[in-house]
Amino acid sequence: MYNDLVDQAELFQEAIKYYANILTPFSKLVDKKIKDVLALNVPVDMICPSHGVIWRDNPLQIVKKYVEWANNYSENQITVAYDTMWNGTRRMAEAIAHGIAAADSDVTVKLFNIARSDKSDLITEIFKSKAVLVGSPTVNKGILSAAAAILEEIKGLRFQNKKAAAFGCYGWSGEAIAVISERLKEGGFQVLNDGIMEKWNPNSKGIDNCIRFGNDVALATR
Ligand SMILES: Cc1cc2nc3c(=O)[nH]c(=O)nc-3n(C[C@H](O)[C@H](O)[C@H](O)COP(=O)(O)O)c2cc1C
Repeated sequence: MYNDLVDQAELFQEAIKYYANILTPFSKLVDKKIKDVLALNVPVDMICPSHGVIWRDNPLQIVKKYVEWANNYSENQITVAYDTMWNGTRRMAEAIAHGIAAADSDVTVKLFNIARSDKSDLITEIFKSKAVLVGSPTVNKGILSAAAAILEEIKGLRFQNKKAAAFGCYGWSGEAIAVISERLKEGGFQVLNDGIMEKWNPNSKGIDNCIRFGNDVALATR
């Protein structure tokens, strides 16, 4: 029931997950309201929200976190999230992640299969990231449904100050890259480039292209 009685890592993970998934679109209001309340200079002994723990130990610590999260929050992290039917786009994602890590040893790279991940955890990792790379193969001139769902969700959250790019395998026409890039732009992401696509399951040259693509993303987001 109280913030000092629970595991602190779990508490802050749940708090940032709540912020990322629920409050992100209201960040301007959050920041303004916190400033209004702090300007009153009222001593704060305890914060009893309508959900979550009661903050009685150093209650302003969560207020400081909310101010950080409300102001274009990002960590030195890049998230690579993909969907796939036959693992070609997964292999692209892994090669891109290696390419990022090879070009910048300080950046945290996180890799997710969108269809097999908890949606709220993935949104939290995107919230923490300075850039997100979204991958899907082309399917019927579009993208796979799990990738479409997460793009719809992040569009609504209106993340600020984040870069992005698209990737994916294709067989003959390859519309997925343009579809993903367009959704990312609609979501307010700064799309870094035209994305990368590989025909069918990538061969070793295709994997090298993906590694280079990862190198370029790392350098463009440093
Ligand atoms: C039902 C279905 C529809 C597809 N539609 C397209 C398409 O419209 N255009 C295209 O370029 N490739 C299309 N493809 C081919 C896939 O994009 C290709 O097989 C790709 O390598 C799959 O990537 P993955 O290994 O990541 O699943 C389609 C494949 C399937 C199974």
